[in-house]
Amino acid sequence: MKNVIMSVDTGIDDAMAIYLLSKYINIDYIIATSGNSYLNNTFNNTNFVVKSLNLDIPVYKGSENPLIRPHFEEKYHGEYGLADYRAENIIKKENGIVKLIDSLNKDKYTILSTGPLTDIALALSVEPSISDNIEKIIIMGGAFHLNEYGNGNINNAEFNIYYDPEAAKIVFKNNINEYIIGLDVTMDPKFSMDNNDFNKIKNNNIPGIIIKLSEYLILKHKRLYFHDPIAALCLINENLFKFIDADVSVDNNGITALKNASGNINKKIAIDLDYNGFKSYLYDKIFNE
Ligand code: RIB
Ligand code: CA
Repeated sequence: MKNVIMSVDTGIDDAMAIYLLSKYINIDYIIATSGNSYLNNTFNNTNFVVKSLNLDIPVYKGSENPLIRPHFEEKYHGEYGLADYRAENIIKKENGIVKLIDSLNKDKYTILSTGPLTDIALALSVEPSISDNIEKIIIMGGAFHLNEYGNGNINNAEFNIYYDPEAAKIVFKNNINEYIIGLDVTMDPKFSMDNNDFNKIKNNNIPGIIIKLSEYLILKHKRLYFHDPIAALCLINENLFKFIDADVSVDNNGITALKNASGNINKKIAIDLDYNGFKSYLYDKIFNE
């Protein structure tokens, strides 16, 4: 596959998504947006992750805040957004949203979004015609109340959508080929790691940063959910997922719901993932290879 862009708010599971995807696919560049932490932190963290994994992927800076709301800190992923790491401050002036618009003006791209949708919404608002060149977009976001896991992880909403609901509204309104991976799938405990699982892999020959990030979340929150790597998995092999075709609504509190589809809505909402596929394409690829 060629022409792949990631939009991230690194973040522990964003880091794992970068690691996983890079094992399968060439990533052209990454845009860091604010979300899990301030933009400076998510940008520095992304550069740090890329360097620690010996990858050669350019990283650009996106938005400092949601479209019309202030940034807020959740600190779920640590003081500076990446466990106990304090990444080196990197200065880079080229703007990620301008870069995204330029790329999509020239060629077709697939986008994997594992953070708030702010940068993609901005690019689409500034230059709506670029939507024709988005081959597909895979979005980690939303909680659709399809089962007991899809009830939200922050005030009944899912974090990425809650952080910037207006951006999500803009992206969902576009008739782009969208694959939406929400908490209904990613918070199913069988797709997560607990302390017992961690003890089985902690001495494997995998990058130290991956071990440290996993350990941090397990010690702090008892369980590591693979939200963002599961979205990356959808890019690697979408046949492992079951989807329904539906439209999506977002309210002002970031709460997502399915709407009946009329006409060609081009949206696929994940409702299930094959366990053996998850294990071999994601879990073992990260921890047992
Ligand atoms: O709700 C899950 C999302 O928010 C993921 O992208 C993860 O990185 C988190 O902070
Ligand atoms: Ca994320």
